[in-house]
Amino acid sequence: MTQTYHRLRAELTFALAGFLDPEEAQAECFRWFEEGLGLSRSWMVVHGTEEVPAGVRRKIRSWLGRRRKGEPWAYILGWSLFRGHRFQVTPATLIPRPETDLVVEAALEVGRRLKVEDCVDVGTGSGIIAVSLALETGWKVAASDLSPGALKVAKRNAKQLGVAIQFQEGSLLDPVPDPLGLVVANLPYVDPADQPDLQRELAFEPPSALFAPDRGLALTTALLVQAWSRKAPACVLEIGAGQGGELCRRAMGIGWRKTLIHQDLAGHDRILVALA
Ligand SMILES: C[S@@+](CC[C@H](N)C(=O)[O-])C[C@H]1O[C@@H](n2cnc3c(N)ncnc32)[C@H](O)[C@@H]1O
Repeated sequence: MTQTYHRLRAELTFALAGFLDPEEAQAECFRWFEEGLGLSRSWMVVHGTEEVPAGVRRKIRSWLGRRRKGEPWAYILGWSLFRGHRFQVTPATLIPRPETDLVVEAALEVGRRLKVEDCVDVGTGSGIIAVSLALETGWKVAASDLSPGALKVAKRNAKQLGVAIQFQEGSLLDPVPDPLGLVVANLPYVDPADQPDLQRELAFEPPSALFAPDRGLALTTALLVQAWSRKAPACVLEIGAGQGGELCRRAMGIGWRKTLIHQDLAGHDRILVALA
């Protein structure tokens, strides 16, 4: 039986609505067409009544099988957009989240105010923060991660987007030489106790990129201690909703002179800025 692109889109939206909200299903269907098949909405206006080749139907069936099991679209596609650039993502890396844009914005603001020339992105994952800062400033950028698999992807993204970054494997600031510039990070901050309530898609992302002991606060606290003792001028850190108050108290206790919390669009604590 023949199937047109219009019909395929309607059937795909219906199939996606079997496990997504109807609005999400429609938006995701457009993404599959645009990002996965490379077929724009204007292409569809002209060619929507044409017959879909068997290869395309097979591809959609295979994507649908994976997506039904909860695999995130970004892993199926192999890339994700961040600040207008395509970043490769694999199951070794976290999928970029829109909130992380706020880390880059805050880092740009703090870095310019303090006139920094160097920065380090700790827990770089796919490299989105380090690469964005390298693309948007003249700073010398370093980045660290514990995961060799994530660093491989980050290096590929830096090369693909044409920036030079000093990548180091190791924990927090251990592999990064002094003197330190601005310290920026989106480290794991999810409380392991919340694991059973999380979306099933998170099960596909590396647990080492999500969870931290001490109610999600352990790595952020350890970084604040290390950055302070190594005389960093400031830290800009992504944090979990509701972690702002406790982390500000800890930062002040460590010795940081001033702390600020920025909230995200949903009104949740999202960024901690600590100034020396
Ligand atoms: C939440 S992901 C963030 C990735 C990326 N920065 C982003 O915003 O998409 C946290 C990253 O921190 C890394 N990580 C976890 N513990 C670490 C540690 N002790 N030192 C350095 N990196 C660590 C993980 O491997 C993971 O890539």
